[in-house]
This record gives sequence, structure tokens and C-alpha cells, in this order.
Amino acid sequence: MHYRIAKGVFDILPQDPDPQGNWRETHLWHFFEKTMREVALAFGYEEIRTPIFETTDLFTRSIGSSSDIVTKEMYTFRDKGNRSLTLRPEGTAPVLRSFIEKSLHNQGKVHKFFYSLPMFRYERQQAGRYRQHHQFGVEAIGIGSPFQDVECIHLLWTLYQRLGLQNLTLHIHSLGNEETRKAFRHALKIYLRPHVNSLSAESQLRYETNPLRILDSKDAKDQKILEEAPKILDFLGEDAKDHFNTVCALLNDLKIPYLINPKLVRGLDYYNQTVFEITASELGAQNSLGGGGRYDGLIQQLGGPDLPAFGFGAGIERILITMLGQNVPFPKRRAPTLFLIPLGEDAAPFSFTLGSHLRTEGISVEIDLSGKKLKNAMKAASQKNAAFVAVIGDDEKKSGKFQLKNMQTGTVETVSSDELANVLQTYP
Ligand code: HAM
Repeated sequence: MHYRIAKGVFDILPQDPDPQGNWRETHLWHFFEKTMREVALAFGYEEIRTPIFETTDLFTRSIGSSSDIVTKEMYTFRDKGNRSLTLRPEGTAPVLRSFIEKSLHNQGKVHKFFYSLPMFRYERQQAGRYRQHHQFGVEAIGIGSPFQDVECIHLLWTLYQRLGLQNLTLHIHSLGNEETRKAFRHALKIYLRPHVNSLSAESQLRYETNPLRILDSKDAKDQKILEEAPKILDFLGEDAKDHFNTVCALLNDLKIPYLINPKLVRGLDYYNQTVFEITASELGAQNSLGGGGRYDGLIQQLGGPDLPAFGFGAGIERILITMLGQNVPFPKRRAPTLFLIPLGEDAAPFSFTLGSHLRTEGISVEIDLSGKKLKNAMKAASQKNAAFVAVIGDDEKKSGKFQLKNMQTGTVETVSSDELANVLQTYP
């Protein structure tokens, strides 16, 4: 029996044998996670971890019954108690569920969370689109002012800068409030009515269920039809207009370049006012490196207090793929400081004790217990990128002195077992 990985998911390995697959290597994820944590903490966000599954109604009520996620993409199953559960397709609803359930608003008005968690969506498999993907996201609860919108956008922008990403485009837009969208939906339907039969099959369906989503159709013919379509920005009330103008002004102050994109509507129903997305040209069709927006009203809709909120989610796979595509330098994979090669069976227990002791001192040691010939063992040491190599034979065992070879410079130094830990500890 030969088992294969399920469709649309992937392993993250110390080293992926496929040269195209090096974004699936653990040390790249560690680098991303370290940088992401540093940036999120610098902005005053704290980490939250919610369970992988939630009750299904949490997602159907928040994401929207006509969204792709709810209609086609959820991994929903019944547990042995016949409860309907769903693997988390996105991070916002679970964070809000936790916030409301624990009455966190009693601990203060403002709460800022970040997360880095796997998400599950039954999507058509293609480059940059997976059935399990990972999102770095933030949810900032309690502040309704444009400062909050820009703080979140700035956080993600800063992270991308810190990671060394280039050629990114920040798209921003405002969806106004429910009233705006109602009036706009009506105007858009009137505009599209004479063209309905020429729209793509998907957009024809959306004409009935969720006409706003027609705006972000990738179909060239749909886009042509939409050229003269009404614009949401023309339907904004005074407050929403002011809010959006302030967002633009604050972005200007922070020197973050942006593009006002009247087609940006987002695929989840809970947004109002500011929405944004950051795209990378390298990624092709699945080019969104992250996106989010304001979702005032959602907390109340889920049974909590009436608090405004803003957040985003960013796909970690796509970020790493873009970084590699742009040749961004990554720190090297962690290598052992010392590679110990016992010569002959007698040397093995001695080498094992010595190496084990050094490990307890915090030194990373690899002990070659495979019984390889010296030449092959040396080859393994250089493949592992070990900083030092010591060969242990009878002489070393007796004298307690080792020839420590620096693999980078080729120099050899004689060190006693007592000195070994000190010498290696000075190595970075
Ligand atoms: P979303 O746009 O559905 O938003 O996903 C956020 C990001 O996750 C996308 O921009 C993309 O980078 C990545 N992503 C989504 N689906 C996939 C996939 N199948 N494969 C690979 N990457 C993917 C949300 O999920 C919202 N919860 C974001 C948010 C938080 N809004 C407010 N707070």
C-alpha cells in the first residue's frame, strides 16, 4: 500500500527535494514567524490561538450565505454527537467568538490580537491556492476611527518591508455602510440588466445572489462590460467619505503608496467602510498577499457588544513564494555547531557521552552513529554545514584531546574535552 498526501495540502520539511518547493522548508517558516511576531508585538498586538474547528453556524452567520466560502468551500462534518462542525476557513469569526464568549470587553475597550494559523477551504487546486493554507492575521477591536484602519495597513506594510518584499501594490476602497451598498446594488443591477446574458456564468449567478462580487470578476468580457459601471465611492455618505479621505491622508503621511481600486469588494460579506488588499505581480491570478478591512457591526451580529473593528489576513504560503521569486535573502538553515565522527565501534559510546554532555550545555551537536567510512562521514558533515568536525578514535579517547577542524577556514586546533564546551560556546 502506497499512501499519498491528500489533494491541495502540503508538507513542510527541513529540506524539500523539489527545487520549486523550497517555500515548504521549515526554516523559512521560522524566519517568517519570527519577523511577523516582532512586527506584531511592536504594534501592540498580542497572540491568540483558537481551535481548528468551530460550530458551523459561526461561519455561516459571519462570512455570508452567498459567499464562495460558505456555499462551496467549507470542510463541514458531524462529530459522534451529531454536532455540525467546520474546520476554520478564516480567522476573524473564531477570534470574535472567543472575544464575545469570554466577555473580554469587560476588561477594556480596545483589544488587539494577532494569529498565525492554518485555514481550510475546499478550493480548486492551483498555484498559490491550497486546501490548507496558513494566515497571519490581526483583529483590532474597539476603535472606529481611520487611525485604526491605517495602523493595521501599516503593520502589514511594515512586515512586508521587513521581509524584503518589493513591487507590491496596496489597493484600497470603501464599501460604505449597509445603506450605501443597498443603493449601489440597485444601481449596479440596473446598469447590468441589458448585459446580463453576456456576463460569465458565474457573474450571471452573482447578479441574483451577490451583485457586488461581479465587480471583482477576473473574466475579461465581464470587465469590459463593467467599464462604465457606477462606482461605490459615488454612493458614500458624508461620514464614510470623510473616513475614507482621512485614511488616504494618513497613508500619505506615512508615505505608503496606494491605489484606489473601485473594483475591490472582498469575498466575505462582513466588511463595511475601508477595505484593502496587497498584491504582488509575480503571483499571477492568485496575487493577493493579504487583505482585510473594517467590520463594524459583526461583533454585535454574533451576539456581542456593538464595537467597531478592523483586521486582515495574509497568506503565508504566498508571501514565502513571492519572497523566493524575488530572491529575497533568507537566513540559512540551522546547522550543527559540532559534527562528531567516532572511528570504529569502540569510539561510539565515548563519542555519544561526550556529544550528549555538550548538548545539555546548549551546543548543537550531531553524532554520526551510522558507522560510515571517514570519507563519507566528512561528506555528511559538510552537507549538514557543520561549523566544526572532530574525529574520535582510540587516541582521542585515551588522551581526552581532540583535533577540532573549523570547516569554514580549514584550520585545526587541539582542544581538551574540558575546553571543548567553552570553545564551542563562543561560536555564534
Ligand atoms: P481572505 O481574503 O479570504 O480574508 O484571506 C486572506 C488571505 O489569505 C488572502 O489574501 C490570501 O493571501 C490568503 N488565502 C486565502 N485563501 C487561500 C488559499 N486557498 N490558499 C492560499 N492562500 C489563501 C480573510 O480570510 C479574512 N478573515 C481577513 C480578515 C481578517 N478580514 C478582517 N480580519
